Amino acid sequence: MKKRILSGMRPTGKLHLGNYVGALENWVNLQGEYENFHLVADWHTLTTNLDTSGLQENTIEMVIDWLAAGIDPEQSPIFVQSQIKEHAELYLIFSMLVTVPRLERNPTVKEQARDLGTESNIIFGHLGYPILQAADILLYKAHLVPVGEDQLPHVELTREIARKFNKTYDDVLRVPSGKVTDFARLPGLDGNKMSKSLGNTILLSDSPEVIGKKVMRAVTDPQKIRRNDPGRPEVCNVFTYYKKFCPHRVAEVDAACRSGELGCVEDKRNFAACLTKYLEPFREKRVQLEKNIDDIKDIIADGNRRAGEVAAQTMHEVYQAMNLD
Ligand code: TRP
Repeated sequence: MKKRILSGMRPTGKLHLGNYVGALENWVNLQGEYENFHLVADWHTLTTNLDTSGLQENTIEMVIDWLAAGIDPEQSPIFVQSQIKEHAELYLIFSMLVTVPRLERNPTVKEQARDLGTESNIIFGHLGYPILQAADILLYKAHLVPVGEDQLPHVELTREIARKFNKTYDDVLRVPSGKVTDFARLPGLDGNKMSKSLGNTILLSDSPEVIGKKVMRAVTDPQKIRRNDPGRPEVCNVFTYYKKFCPHRVAEVDAACRSGELGCVEDKRNFAACLTKYLEPFREKRVQLEKNIDDIKDIIADGNRRAGEVAAQTMHEVYQAMNLD
C-alpha cells in the first residue's frame, strides 16, 4: 500500500511560477510514489475574502493548471472542500480540542491578519483557519503533507490535534508529517515574494509575448546600469529564475554578466526565450484542456466521489470513538 499525501491550495485562479516551484512541481514529482489527494480549499478563501463571485471560475482555472502540469486525475483524486461536508463536521469537533491562545500564536495567521489590518479584530473563521486545515488533512489519514515553509505551523497544530483526539477518544487519526519543498520562495519580478496580490508574477499560462514583456520589467542588479558594467548575478532576480528554469545556461550567464559582456536587455531576451520553451508543453496541454470545461467538471465530480468515500469512513470511525454514532 502506498502512503498517502494530502495537499491543497486555495483557489485564487491561474497559478504562477511561485505556486509551481513551491508546491505543484513537488506534487507531480511525488505522484506514483505516493497516493496523492489534491484539495481545492475553497472555504479557506472565505477566511480572508468574502467575495465568492469568482470562486467557481478560479477553481476551474486552478485545476486546469494542475492537470496541465502533470497531475493525473486517475491516480490522484482532485476534489473541492465545500463539496465534502465532513470537512465542516470534523472542523467543529476539532474546535473543541484547541484553545484560543494556541491559535493566536500561529505566525502565519498573524502575518495574514497584519497584512489585512485585522490583527486586533480578527475574524473567528480566520483564527480557526489551521483547524479547518487539520480537518482537511486528518480526514484522509494522510502520512505526508507537502507544503511551503509558511504552512508548517498549521501542520504542527494538525499533529497536536490528532494526538489530542486519539488520547481523548480512541486511536483513530494518523499523525502526519510535513514535507517542505526543496526550492525556497521564488522572488517575483520586483524581488518580493512572488504573489498574485503584489502583481509581480509570471503565470504558467502566460503567452510568449506576455512572458517577454514581464521579464523585461524584472529587477536586476541596480548597480548594472549600462551594458558594459559588471553585474552581480547573486542579486539579480532573472539569474534566480535561470537557476530554476534554465540550469544549463547558468555558468555561461554568470560569467558573461560579471565580465560586463552581457547586458541586461539581451540577458532578459534570452531568458524569456528559455522560459517560453520550458513552459511550452504546459501551454499546449492547457489549450487542449480549456476546450472542454465539462471534462474538468467531471474530473472534479469523480474526485469528490472518491474523496467523499474516504471522508465518510473516517467520520464513521470518529463518531464511533466518541460514542456519537
Ligand atoms: N493553507 C494552504 C495554503 O494556503 C492551503 C490548504 C488548505 C492546505 N488545506 C490544506 C494545504 C491542507 C495542505 C493541506 O497554501
